[in-house]
Amino acid sequence: MKEDFRNIDLTACNSFGISVRADRMVTFDSREALCELLADGEILSGKWGVLSGGNNILFTEDFHGTLLHPVGRQIEMLSSDDSRVRVRVQAGLEWDDLVAWAVERDLWGLENLSLIPGYVGAAPVQNIGAYGAEVKDTIEAVELLDTDSLAPITLAAAHCGFGYRESVFKGVLKGRVVITAVLFSLSRVPHPSLGYGDLLKETEALGGPALKNIREAVIAIRRRKLPDPKETGNAGSFFKNPVVERSVAEKLKEKYPDMPLYPAQDEAHRKLPAGWLIDRAGWKGRMRATVGVHAAQALVLVNRGGATGTEVLELASDIRRDVERQFGVTIEMEVNLW
Ligand code: EPU
Repeated sequence: MKEDFRNIDLTACNSFGISVRADRMVTFDSREALCELLADGEILSGKWGVLSGGNNILFTEDFHGTLLHPVGRQIEMLSSDDSRVRVRVQAGLEWDDLVAWAVERDLWGLENLSLIPGYVGAAPVQNIGAYGAEVKDTIEAVELLDTDSLAPITLAAAHCGFGYRESVFKGVLKGRVVITAVLFSLSRVPHPSLGYGDLLKETEALGGPALKNIREAVIAIRRRKLPDPKETGNAGSFFKNPVVERSVAEKLKEKYPDMPLYPAQDEAHRKLPAGWLIDRAGWKGRMRATVGVHAAQALVLVNRGGATGTEVLELASDIRRDVERQFGVTIEMEVNLW
């Protein structure tokens, strides 16, 4: 069912809990419904954007335009054989509901991504990732509507430009398409991936690498480190882990032997943990009146109550400056500014 809200309060629609308003927000439950909504050109002639879970957004001002909000939550099985199940999932389903659905049916591929807040439609945009897994490895294609031509397009994963927290949806297609569904290919064949941090230890403690144990282990680790957005406003990792030249990483490692280093997209680069850099720059757990740095994970900035987007940005810019001064490394925001 289509809903149309005017002058809507967005405080509950963004996980940072920033109090702003939008001129208009309309819902859509399918690509066809969205196409109808946009057909007369009125919405697209003004400012518009897609607001799904609002988990990776920092509002710094009211939104003077129309927000398109997906509400379709269907999971449709497309094919199934001995080794794989292909599903089509609408953009408005809560991401973790999909993970739970897959784990209940013994389907592998999403379990390490348990409890990531947000909607299915947003998952490909930043190629969500955690505990050694990235969503791109399970995505077969993304269904979208091209807002220039109103043509439905199915974009194969190979054309989505996926990289670490990157995709074409954040790049050339930004502001030009609306994702309406994602096609996943899940495996019936067990392939536990437990190489990241304490995941193996935590899974063993729960009885070994069964799907439900891996999911439970990931959930337990996340709950320890990350604030629940329902209780404390936040948008997960505020910054991306910086990718630097290997020589730069190695020099830093000589100076700071306890700094972890991660592989990057190629051998010439390494990924550094921004959380570690921010922590060592002295910011972990530091609080200001309305904003602060989470005490259990320095990569997460929190709204302590009543924060404005500008206050969060000021904190982020002070952190960025100190990390740059101390380590000579620039950290980029993961969160989108609106
Ligand atoms: N670290 C510190 N201090 C901190 C935070 C981290 O020393 O305050 C160190 C940790 O001890 C560890 C390293 O930095 O050695 C990496 O920390 P962690 O394993 O917590 O992961 P991360 O690199 O900080 C990334 C993702 C998270 C994801 C975790 C687990 C990014 C930007 N973030 O964080 O994703 O949950 O790995 O896979 O890549 C998100 O995107 O919102 C998010 C939470």
